Amino acid sequence: MLLEVNDLDLRYGRTHAVAGVSLKVQEGEIVAVLGANGAGKSSLLKAVLGTVKPAGGSIRFSGADITTSPVPHRIRNGLVLVPEGRRILVSMTIHENLLLGAGLREDRTTLPREIDAIYDRFSNLAARRDMPAAVLSGGEQQMLAIGRAMLAKPRLMMLDEPSLGLSPLLVDRVFSLLHELNTNGMSLLLVEQNTRKTLELASRGYVLELGRMVMAGPADALLADEGLQRAYLGAG
Ligand SMILES: Nc1ncnc2c1ncn2[C@@H]1O[C@H](COP(=O)(O)OP(=O)(O)O)[C@@H](O)[C@H]1O
Ligand SMILES: [Mg+2]
Repeated sequence: MLLEVNDLDLRYGRTHAVAGVSLKVQEGEIVAVLGANGAGKSSLLKAVLGTVKPAGGSIRFSGADITTSPVPHRIRNGLVLVPEGRRILVSMTIHENLLLGAGLREDRTTLPREIDAIYDRFSNLAARRDMPAAVLSGGEQQMLAIGRAMLAKPRLMMLDEPSLGLSPLLVDRVFSLLHELNTNGMSLLLVEQNTRKTLELASRGYVLELGRMVMAGPADALLADEGLQRAYLGAG
């Protein structure tokens, strides 16, 4: 098992943001975490990366208990998070932002080739690599954030609402990029509110409500679930 979250609890003062959540990601899988605003999705991803401390439960990555490991240790071991709202440093150049992703890498032999490949893929970034990232549109910033995460060479890429605020065309581009990354061997843990597209991409999914896991199963079963359709797919 690549990622194993067990009975995770996370609190902010009196807010019980994540309550007894367990989930798994196998090598090669795309796993979706769905749920409305405030469900605890971002908190869950932050706990896996290590930027917030859980109050209870355990997190195992690639067989090792990482529950209390420092963030850089987790990144070096193959975890990365594309955070909600992209977190691009707008005063730094596009190229500098991209390089941040490789900051903790030990094996840098193929890095120049990987950077070229990212610029080949995202010509909008290549053309402006020495400009401040502030010049990028929302969609271009999302591509930069994903490109930056790719340079960390992760085994598991976690993405927090990568389609938020993008035009339908760019949403399609983001989803096809995720599909391609997965085809090339990367496992993905994808938090989204774009429920239908996400379940069409993922093999399994989990649904969070107010910090609790209320549903879990194969993506096609969740897509067909009437309760989920009423709540998240605008049907019924
Ligand atoms: N830094 C924080 N301090 C206090 N409460 C927070 C903080 N971050 C999130 N919360 C609360 O925790 C709950 C879960 O939030 P979050 O994980 O961001 O959910 P989601 O990503 O599903 O919208 C919400 O009630 C939110 O208000
Ligand atoms: Mg969130």
